[in-house]
Amino acid sequence: MKRILLLAAAVLLAVVPSAARKTKKATPKEHQVVAIPQIEKQVIAIETSNSQLVFLAQPNGVLHTCHYGSKIADPKQFMDYNLRQGTDYGKGPMAYPTQGGAYANEPALSVRYADGSRNTELYYVSHQVKDKGNVVTTEILMKDYVTSLEVKLVYDAYRKEDVILSHAEIANGGKTPVELIDYASSSLYLDADKYLLTSTYGDWSAEMQIEREVLGHNLKVIETKRGTQATQWNNPSFMLSLNTDSFSETDGEVIAGSLCWSGNFRISFEKNVAHRLNVIAGINPFSSEYPLAPGATFVTPDMIWTWSGQGAGQATRNIHAWARRYGVYGGGQITPTLLNSWEGAYFTFTTETLLRMIDDAAAMGLEMFVLDDGWFAMDYPRDSDKQGLGDWEVNTRKIPEGIDYVASYAHSKGLKFGIWIEPEMVNPKSNLAQAHPDWVVRSPGREILQARNQWVLDLTNPEVQDFVFGIFDNTMSLAPNIDYIKFDSNRPIMSMGSDYLGAEQNRFYVDYVQGLYNVMRRVREKYPDTIVQCCSSGGSRVDYGSLKYFNEYWTSDDTDAMERVKIQYGTSLFYPACTMGSHVSDVPNHQTGNVTPLKFRFDIAAAGRLGMELQPKNLSESDRALADRCIRSYKGFRDLVFNGDLYRLSSPYESDYYAFMYVSEDRSRAVVYLYSTNYLNRAIGSKTFRLQGLDPAKQYKIEELNVDKSCFAGSGSVYSGDYLMGGGFTPQIFKTFASAVFYLEAR
Ligand code: DGJ
Repeated sequence: MKRILLLAAAVLLAVVPSAARKTKKATPKEHQVVAIPQIEKQVIAIETSNSQLVFLAQPNGVLHTCHYGSKIADPKQFMDYNLRQGTDYGKGPMAYPTQGGAYANEPALSVRYADGSRNTELYYVSHQVKDKGNVVTTEILMKDYVTSLEVKLVYDAYRKEDVILSHAEIANGGKTPVELIDYASSSLYLDADKYLLTSTYGDWSAEMQIEREVLGHNLKVIETKRGTQATQWNNPSFMLSLNTDSFSETDGEVIAGSLCWSGNFRISFEKNVAHRLNVIAGINPFSSEYPLAPGATFVTPDMIWTWSGQGAGQATRNIHAWARRYGVYGGGQITPTLLNSWEGAYFTFTTETLLRMIDDAAAMGLEMFVLDDGWFAMDYPRDSDKQGLGDWEVNTRKIPEGIDYVASYAHSKGLKFGIWIEPEMVNPKSNLAQAHPDWVVRSPGREILQARNQWVLDLTNPEVQDFVFGIFDNTMSLAPNIDYIKFDSNRPIMSMGSDYLGAEQNRFYVDYVQGLYNVMRRVREKYPDTIVQCCSSGGSRVDYGSLKYFNEYWTSDDTDAMERVKIQYGTSLFYPACTMGSHVSDVPNHQTGNVTPLKFRFDIAAAGRLGMELQPKNLSESDRALADRCIRSYKGFRDLVFNGDLYRLSSPYESDYYAFMYVSEDRSRAVVYLYSTNYLNRAIGSKTFRLQGLDPAKQYKIEELNVDKSCFAGSGSVYSGDYLMGGGFTPQIFKTFASAVFYLEAR
């Protein structure tokens, strides 16, 4: 590459007037300016099948973002792209803006150098492209010529899925240590007239609630500072509908993003006066100034981006397709239906209770039994959440025969067996807390706050990482062939502090997550085939950082099917159904007290990985019969749940219906779910649902499942794809709690 090198340094002395030179002793220290190499202007295009991210490296080395949107056959045309804001460092849509130059907005990177200086200016050095088939990696090397800090911007373009993953590798090429203050994974400038942001908020038992707002010119931030329960209140995922103030599943440009990080995150949206929006996503800089020694490199987590020209539905399908193929451990693999002991037995059980539940699960056609909390601790028996956490020996007063006996019994009945652990936490009332107070997250001189009567173990400490891995490992050895581990984590970090980190407390939030990932890497090396669920008081750790190691998550402790409507809709925007643990529980519901029909509960649970979480022996005969029927039918179409493409037909946030469908890749089969969340009188009747994703030319037999009399007069008949999508599908469904599942198969 042709590059013109300028003189290394311009010496101020040369331009100082002669009068001043006479009094040289009194002049302040000379100010030497390091010249920035000029480069050849060039366009760098990162492409997927339908989208394109385009950068322009300016002659002065500044790297600008020109475009993230539809694919343009000849991206070189961006060479003359009008930035409208000049090209000095800090002006215009900087690809990875730093604190420095003329830049005065949110930085993706800000650094404190050893001499206290705070300016960083990154200039393009070189780039390289590695084509690995479906994945094309572009690495752009940037450098600060004054401080020798180098940043590699890495973009992995997943062609087929229209997804781009982006992260930064920040290397200290200087001779003195530096401190990273802001160190985002990715920054993206967009250019539209309007930006409608869809993000989530929530709490325990109400995760992934949808919020929409048209962005103004003020800074908007979604973030968390909760550490272990990073996604309980906000998820590091969002959608931006461009040039509109209304959300559409099918029309318009949508950009979606999700950060692969299971700890504190921060995503900022800053719109400037030219209506350009800069989105910066990464680890939350909150209390996390990170030291970088000379020669060391900090690799940020990946940020997932996707662009859709056909509304939010396609953006979701892009992320889901990527997730099933690359982003989720065992993505798309069908995992068993199950009975979980929690809401059916809580802490109160004996071997007898468990064997009876296993019998019932087997009789109902379920495929796995999961023993939840309560099976361990002798000195401080885990009979409630007040004690025992940390003491992972089997409670032989409850299960004298041991876990192997229960697991073998399940296996003998043709069921798989799973068990619960919460290895990164400890009750103060436990032998572990007494033996290792130094392992507890605590701040010197301050009370160690409790939440759910427990403390957090300090995963920044490698000894604690060994311990946590050991708990997983030992639990796996309690019986041969443990098939499934539910890995729970039931409180956030409060009053942060680590004995291990000493004076470097600022590393805590980052090193904690790295510690968790170290543990999970070891788990996966040793147990590649074990199904592991990520649970955190329900859905408090749902992100693509954890899903790299976990097969699924527990969506929410709120098992009320009507509540799940909104939670599962919100979750579905970003996370595929194969990851969504979804259970039928008892009525009145243990969280809400509501009574919902069993059919409605099954139809909601069948939208994800189906399970049950109740005491089957309490079900009436007719409920048992319905349960058997629903479980059987689910097994017949669940490959669509695990691997089909999701089309949302109606949002429970904007209408009286939640409706969606999963369609097979070849469009020959589909399953449609409809739920009525309010009573609509007969005059209004029922909505016409226009299906999506079918082949217009195909003829589909449509049939309602799990009922003797269908709510659709045409159930069992054959209709063309163009009719079902264009004319519509008109079941009579208008009462609160009415629900229906239809199976479609091409003739
Ligand atoms: C919280 C989880 O979300 C529940 O499903 C259950 O496993 C309890 N923890 C057990 O303590």
